[in-house]
Amino acid sequence: MRRALLTTLGGVFLAGSVAAADLPEGDPAKGRKLAGQCRACHGLDGYARIPIAPHIGGEPASYLAGQLIAFREGTRNHEMMSVVARGLKDQQIADLAAWYARHGATARLTADPEMAPEACVACHGADGIALVEDAPNLAGETNIYIDTQLKAFRSGKRVHEIMTEIALEMSDQDIRAAADWYGDVKLEIELKE
Ligand code: HEC
Ligand code: HEC
Repeated sequence: MRRALLTTLGGVFLAGSVAAADLPEGDPAKGRKLAGQCRACHGLDGYARIPIAPHIGGEPASYLAGQLIAFREGTRNHEMMSVVARGLKDQQIADLAAWYARHGATARLTADPEMAPEACVACHGADGIALVEDAPNLAGETNIYIDTQLKAFRSGKRVHEIMTEIALEMSDQDIRAAADWYGDVKLEIELKE
C-alpha cells in the first residue's frame, strides 16, 4: 500500500498545493507581528500553549498556508480557527506561514524507532518529523489532537487525498496507538537565523 501511495505523491501534492502556491511571497517580519493574534494558543514560536492546538513552528509554509486557506474557505472547520482565519487576507496568510516556517523543529524519540506505526513512517518519519514536502510534523502533538484529526479524516469532516484513504483503514485502536506514539515524542522548536 505504501508504494502505491508514494507513486501518486507527486501529482497529488501539486494538486493540493495550488492555492497556497498562488499566494504572494510571505514576509516573516510582518508575520511575526501578526502572530500576536495566534500566540495565546500556538505561541509566538509555534509551540502550542493549549492541548487542543497543534504545534505549528517549523511546518512547511505551503502546509501552513494551505490549512489557513482551508479554514477560511470552510473546507476545514474548527470553532476557533474558522473565526481566526475568516479575517485573514492572502498576504497575511503568506506572512504568517513564512514566520512560523522560519522555525526549525527537532524531535527526540525515546522509544525504539522499529516500533513506530509502519503505515506512517514513509511520510511522517518514525519520530514525527515529516520526510515529504507538504506533510506536517506530528512529533509532540498531543494525542488528543492527532486522534481528533484522524477521526476527522475518517468521517469526512476533513478531506485529503492521501490521509482520508489511510484513516478509513484505521480502527479506533489503530488511531489511539498512532496518536500515543507521536504524542510521546519530545519536540523542540527554535527560530532559524
Ligand atoms: C483560540 C486559540 C487559537 C488561536 C488564537 C489561533 N489558533 Fe490556530 N488552531 C487552534 C486550534 C484549536 C487548532 C486545531 C484545529 C482542529 O482541531 O482542526 C488550530 C489549528 C491551526 C492550524 C492547523 C495546523 C495543523 O497542523 O494542521 C494552523 C496552520 C493554525 N492553527 C494557525 C494559526 C494562526 C496563524 C493563528 C493566528 C493568526 C492562529 N492559528 C490562532 C487554536 C487557535
Ligand atoms: C503518503 C504520505 C503519508 C502517509 C503514509 C501518512 N500521512 Fe498523514 N499526512 C500526510 C499529508 C500530506 C498530510 C497533510 C494533509 C492536509 O494537507 O490536510 C497528513 C496529515 C496528517 C495528520 C494531520 C496533522 C495536522 O497537523 O493536522 C495526521 C494526524 C496524520 N497525517 C497522521 C498520520 C498517521 C497516523 C499515519 C499512519 C497511519 C499517516 N498520517 C500516514 C501524508 C501522509
